[in-house]
Amino acid sequence: MIWRDLSEAKRRVRAGEVIGLPTETVYGLAAAIDQPAAIERIFLLKERPFFDPLIVHVASASDVCSVAAVIRPEEALLMERFWPGPLTLILPRRPDLNPMICSGLETVGVRCPAHPLARRVIRTSGIPLAAPSANKFGKTSPTEVAHVREFWSEAELFVLDGGPCEIGLESSVVRLAPTASGCCVEVLRPGLVTGDELAGVLRESARFGEISVRFLESAASPGHVKHHYVPAVPLVIAPADGHLGEGRLLDAIAQQLGARPQRLAELTLGKDPRVAARLLYGSMRALCEQGADMLVVFRNDGTAEEWRAIWDRLERAAAAELRF
Ligand code: TXA
Ligand code: MG
Repeated sequence: MIWRDLSEAKRRVRAGEVIGLPTETVYGLAAAIDQPAAIERIFLLKERPFFDPLIVHVASASDVCSVAAVIRPEEALLMERFWPGPLTLILPRRPDLNPMICSGLETVGVRCPAHPLARRVIRTSGIPLAAPSANKFGKTSPTEVAHVREFWSEAELFVLDGGPCEIGLESSVVRLAPTASGCCVEVLRPGLVTGDELAGVLRESARFGEISVRFLESAASPGHVKHHYVPAVPLVIAPADGHLGEGRLLDAIAQQLGARPQRLAELTLGKDPRVAARLLYGSMRALCEQGADMLVVFRNDGTAEEWRAIWDRLERAAAAELRF
């Protein structure tokens, strides 16, 4: 079955179609980078603004030179250590790369996905694939085929089934900026590969000088806007207070949002950020489907840097943060 679907995926990519592609982070909406009509179709299918650039997916680090003009030793080291995996590096783009992929920027985001089916499709298609997450613009990313089907029917989109995504949260988007004494790891979108981890690897080599980390987030990533990852019903963030009580919570919601929910459901995150990431989007969907008309998530006191990625998504998904 998988083999038949794999060759079907390859055939469609080569024929200039857009396909649904499993990756370890979230499902992608993928097209070959040398098929301009298919690249344009990705934006149309997603209803995504053309100013928001796509990530190019390669089968191995050695393919990066087909899209990036320059790769510095620091970047090569990060590719060696973190690829295949959920790390997107922003690099200077090659002039012959279709500018629509990069939304006219001089840079391109590149990553090598860890999902074996994704790499197989890229390798057998013989060309890198541009792929954003397989959801309509602003909506929650899909972590299994059924989620992709909320947006497009079987007739509209072929999706290669790779099972549920292991990571469940979009890749970290990072660029390295030279500084007077070394370089700065600039995190544009936090993910489960953390700024500290990246800096730690670069610090192993004295020749890279002093390494710092900075979180730029929405300032530098055109698509990383507020009100993204939005679920089907409003989500509110409440302070980490176990003693709030449902009455006070509902009063605060009514007062601050002007509407009292009939069926409020709690989105629980647990203690382990990796498990929380894997379950996050699926749980949001399940609670909506079970009839909740509002979701609430309580702030937690997790200090691991991975929580930053989860709260980044929740803050963008939320309609409001309650104040007490
Ligand atoms: O895990 C992922 O990265 C998934 C899977 C499918 O690989 N893809 C994904 O793509 O999340 P998308 O398009 O939903 O998000 C890409 C993010 C956007 O915020 C975009 O603005 C940013 O990466 N990005 C892409 N190219 C960029 C560039 N050249 N400079 C700055 N930001 C860039
Ligand atoms: Mg997305």
